[in-house]
Amino acid sequence: MRTVFWDNERQTMKMIDQRVLPWTFELLEYATHEAVAEAITDMVVRGAPAIGAAAAFGMVLAAQQSQATDAATLRNDLHTAGERLNLARPTAVNLAWAVKRLLRVADNPDLTDPTAIHAALLAEAQKLADEDVALNRRMAYHGAELISDGDTILHHCNTGALATVDWGTALGVIFAAHEQGKKIHVLVDETRPRLQGARLTAWELQQRGIPFDLIADNAAGHFMRTGQVNIVLVGSDRTAANGDVANKIGTYKLAVVAKENGVPFYPVVPTSTIDLDLAHGDLIPIEERSPDEVTAVFGTPIAPAGISARNPAFDVTPHRYVTGIVTEAGIVYPPFVKNLRQAVLKASNQ
Ligand code: MRU
Repeated sequence: MRTVFWDNERQTMKMIDQRVLPWTFELLEYATHEAVAEAITDMVVRGAPAIGAAAAFGMVLAAQQSQATDAATLRNDLHTAGERLNLARPTAVNLAWAVKRLLRVADNPDLTDPTAIHAALLAEAQKLADEDVALNRRMAYHGAELISDGDTILHHCNTGALATVDWGTALGVIFAAHEQGKKIHVLVDETRPRLQGARLTAWELQQRGIPFDLIADNAAGHFMRTGQVNIVLVGSDRTAANGDVANKIGTYKLAVVAKENGVPFYPVVPTSTIDLDLAHGDLIPIEERSPDEVTAVFGTPIAPAGISARNPAFDVTPHRYVTGIVTEAGIVYPPFVKNLRQAVLKASNQ
């Protein structure tokens, strides 16, 4: 089942509620773009490509909600809805990328009435979702070339089917290597504070029968220094033109320790996540979430009441720590400024 999908009969969007996994498997239904924006902020849906697909279907819902009887008024409503959706989470560029893609369709002057715009938006959102699944597969097989029989892979956060429409990015590479019959082992960072590794990645690996050990985030350095890790694979929420990579908080620390210990570090990144408009990673907006996520674990306090805490949700890994970037157009190596641009171009012609 896809993480995010359109229900044709009910003309609504459905999503797996990732807040309650692995304890409960629940589908939630969405009929308004405002509710979709809230779901993205609350992390019902999370992971850059999944957020992008949710925003795309959110734009279809906005078209359905609009009372407009002419194309110009509908376009206005859609631009307002796009602004609302863009505010939901700032770091993952796939959100703004998807909204922009849907608005480009809506603004096509050949579409002269609201019914035609709505139909075109639904077709585009569906196409975006289908493309996500197909390109994840392609990307996974490129990435699997990096994995040898017997390898132990260190993985951070959740980058699997749940973080995308289906299949996954970094975890998708791991699934592909397993499918190819390679004997692999995964060290799964628990990923404080939201525990996407412990809850979601462990769940996905268990379902596929791939051997793994869950580790506390703080254990990663130990495993790398003692030669127990062959490669680090992570995802990305936004990769700048120079190859600086924003990803789940803790990624930077992993990359530095990986380099120190000669362990290759590869982000697995669909080209929709590459932001060529940003020259370097310091320009990437970093979301800061509620301190409650740090002072409590799923509602259970772990610190004295009334203290303050900081909770940046992402960090930036400078490109000098990045061995290569796996994309659907192949594996990109330095110099990233030139080669990432080429990969984006190649992917757009695929
Ligand atoms: O806060 P999250 O769970 O949305 O963060 C997700 C990540 O950091 C992933 O690594 C990233 O979105 C890429 S995975 C497809």
